[in-house]
Amino acid sequence: MAGRFIVVDGVDGAGKSTQIERLSAALTARGERVHVTCEPSGWPIGQLIRRYLRGDLKDGVPGWSSMALLFAADRMQHVEHEIEPHLAAGEVVLCDRYDASSIAYQSAIAPDGADRDALMRWIATVNEPARRPDLVLLLDLDPNVAAARRSQRGGEAELYEKLDLQRRIRAQYEKLGALRPNDRIVRIDASRSIDLIHEEILAVTTEALGLNR
Ligand code: ADP
Ligand code: TYD
Repeated sequence: MAGRFIVVDGVDGAGKSTQIERLSAALTARGERVHVTCEPSGWPIGQLIRRYLRGDLKDGVPGWSSMALLFAADRMQHVEHEIEPHLAAGEVVLCDRYDASSIAYQSAIAPDGADRDALMRWIATVNEPARRPDLVLLLDLDPNVAAARRSQRGGEAELYEKLDLQRRIRAQYEKLGALRPNDRIVRIDASRSIDLIHEEILAVTTEALGLNR
């Protein structure tokens, strides 16, 4: 049987990794073979992007357009060498971030005065060759709450983890449905408890993918 491709996306600290771990365990317990992955990926272009995000590499930090192209290149490599082979093997692939992140983040970091809606359309077009997900779960959370969760989690702040920027990113995510009318995008209220969110995500996933509950 062909595999299923599920993306979990949303602002930094929305709870994506937490929910992917829970969903992976629940699907595995139901007998599905699951492959968990994320973007930026572990492939060479993804590793380069992570060095910029952490601030380890300061030479020629890419702006919104070169970052959008780097993320798109990482995505194509990730799809070709990892996502497609796992789908072809009949597995459920759970991916932490995908082109929704590029559309929301890279349009939000463009300078003031930019036509962000036009930028979103360009980023969506650039990413068209990337395989479409069967389901996109968009974890929606107030950036103030997400920032508090991130500070509890600890670790160094990354390039885009600033409150005003995260607010703009959330607003860009809200416009995603209009840009990707053929994608199945489900907004999840991520302000609730981990258990409640997990229950909803599991219900949406099993229903959308026709998996046995
Ligand atoms: P992301 O992968 O989206 O950045 P994480 O899953 O790492 O987010 O969650 C960020 C932090 O918030 C972690 O410390 C995690 O334990 C915590 N967390 C995740 N989901 C919830 C929730 N629903 N309520 C409260 N805290 C949460
Ligand atoms: P990540 O490790 O996913 O952060 P978190 O676990 O806090 O959500 O970090 C990836 C960062 O890269 C995050 O700030 C979002 C950003 N990003 C983009 O700007 N565009 C993209 O296309 C992707 C995949 C990620």
